[in-house]
Amino acid sequence: MSQIAYVNGAYVPMRYAAISINDRGFQFGDSIYEVWPVRGGQLRDSDGHFARMRRSLNEIRAPAPMDDRALHLVIKETMRRNKVREGIVYIQVSRGVAPRDHTFPSKPIKPTLIITAKNLDQAGMRKRGAEGVKVITTPEIRWARRDIKSVNLLPNILQRQAAKEAGAFEAWFVDEDGFITEGTSSNAWIVDAQGRLRTRPLSNDILHGVTRASVMRVAQERQMQVIEEPFTLAEAKAAREAFVTGAGSPIFPVIAIDNVPVGEGKPGPVTQALRAAYLGAE
Ligand code: PDD
Repeated sequence: MSQIAYVNGAYVPMRYAAISINDRGFQFGDSIYEVWPVRGGQLRDSDGHFARMRRSLNEIRAPAPMDDRALHLVIKETMRRNKVREGIVYIQVSRGVAPRDHTFPSKPIKPTLIITAKNLDQAGMRKRGAEGVKVITTPEIRWARRDIKSVNLLPNILQRQAAKEAGAFEAWFVDEDGFITEGTSSNAWIVDAQGRLRTRPLSNDILHGVTRASVMRVAQERQMQVIEEPFTLAEAKAAREAFVTGAGSPIFPVIAIDNVPVGEGKPGPVTQALRAAYLGAE
């Protein structure tokens, strides 16, 4: 079956889907994106993703391409046309098409809107969730507004590629004070020496993960102690357990950091219990 993309008002086979070379998203990365997980044919944590998308647009001073209700309908239709039941939806919104100039066009232009949806390999997802993943670490080389879900992902892709080449799933960025910020496409967590779930507090330093918020809620409902406090690389390596959260990595245990085993080098009980609770809470 050929994949169908939604591009600026039309559903088109992927091979014909195209945007202008003068699109500001392509020319400048003047563009944001959002990613929804799909479970059982439904968007998970839908409102949180809509809210973050709107926030990203506000932060880059770009208008929304359509209201949330209309966007929801188009997302559902894109999912339906691609028969997506267990997968992921991507939206990219750029400021639009205009002759190249760093400043915004003086007259309002139509934002470019792209929506794609695909099923994810469920066996692979289950395997990572059950067996855990390795991470490497890398200096934090990104800009100072990581709270904006911008398509400018060059540092993320370079470091993610480095992770792949090192046989790891993810790369964790380490800031200049030695604290972990987050992964290239996921938030970072540990179970610390006191048995508390610990993750970096929200600020401009990290993306405000929707899965992070959802996992936090599930943990608190189960009386698990959660603290929003940064942790160092040394603390992460000495942690009892560690894991990542993201739309494409819904609680993957971290079993090694820079080839140093975390805890016993296998998924720990707290992470496993939390993962089961989170997946069960859908
Ligand atoms: N990435 N941190 C970064 C840098 C991310 O790119 C992501 C998500 C997250 C987790 O956010 P959420 O729980 O809302 O998915 C944290 C998506 C999945 C991506 O880039 O494909």
